[in-house]
Amino acid sequence: MAPKALPRRFFKQLPERFMHPLVTIAVGAARRAGELIVRNLDRAGGVTVSEKSRNDFVTEIDRAAEQLVIEAIRKAYPDHGILAEESGRQGGDEYLWIIDPLDGTTNFLHGFPQFAVSIACQHRGRTEAGVIFDPLRSELFTASRGAGAQLENRRLRVSAQRSIEGSLIGTGFPYRANVRWLKPYLLMLEQVMQHAAGVRRPGSAALDLAYVAAGRLDGFWELGLAPWDTAAGNLMITEAGGRIGTLSGSPYADGGNLVAGNPRIFTALVESFAPFLSDDLRQ
Ligand code: 2AM
Ligand code: CA
Repeated sequence: MAPKALPRRFFKQLPERFMHPLVTIAVGAARRAGELIVRNLDRAGGVTVSEKSRNDFVTEIDRAAEQLVIEAIRKAYPDHGILAEESGRQGGDEYLWIIDPLDGTTNFLHGFPQFAVSIACQHRGRTEAGVIFDPLRSELFTASRGAGAQLENRRLRVSAQRSIEGSLIGTGFPYRANVRWLKPYLLMLEQVMQHAAGVRRPGSAALDLAYVAAGRLDGFWELGLAPWDTAAGNLMITEAGGRIGTLSGSPYADGGNLVAGNPRIFTALVESFAPFLSDDLRQ
């Protein structure tokens, strides 16, 4: 007889050794990458930097951290596919690992202490596991489908904030290519600023999404993201009881423009953005 699935409450306080195998591999990989990033923070001003496109930087540390993550995944799952920010797509497609080795490179380069490693694993296009690791605070956020989201051994839950009035909302300012949306973005920002208790632009979208899952931010929105910024956080928010969608509130595929939050704040943000959405922003 097939074993019965454990009820959800059994997953509330799982120590690392009981985690889903995909999460365990992602955690090991994220910790190794995080260690390398922190070890190199002091010399961040002196590392070799190239500009992928205007204001989009990559350092040798991004590349080295990405190689560590890929090695760890390849060792455990040689047949799985990989989509990584710096080295692109390789390998099989039944399982696909989506990797941002250093989310918040601009912060890292300035020694501004806000960046993360983000790793997700999809099975046939559906995200099954997600890990976001903040190596400076040593905070490890994990999620696996159907088993909730955790910060270390604590179960994550989105905030209970009921309206934008009094809320703390995160965002990302447009830069490089998405600067073409600056005008509508500023109208959205103006709207949120007038009502929220505070608006934050920390600079690592992956970590911002983990903070929504943890209830530290009541909501978040950003335009022009990439799949590796959002894949792990997307699952984390859903598993923490939150919602994530396009600017018009439709179902969300990773990357692109997103709104997230606890269910009430998600709806409130979508409603407040509606007047500013041109056709290309509505999708
Ligand atoms: P990255 O550091 O992995 O490139 C937040 O706006 C997101 O956009 C970050 O997760 C960051 O991911 C990406 N980004 C790339 N270039 C940026 C820049 N110049 N300023 C801010 N964010 C940038
Ligand atoms: Ca990124």
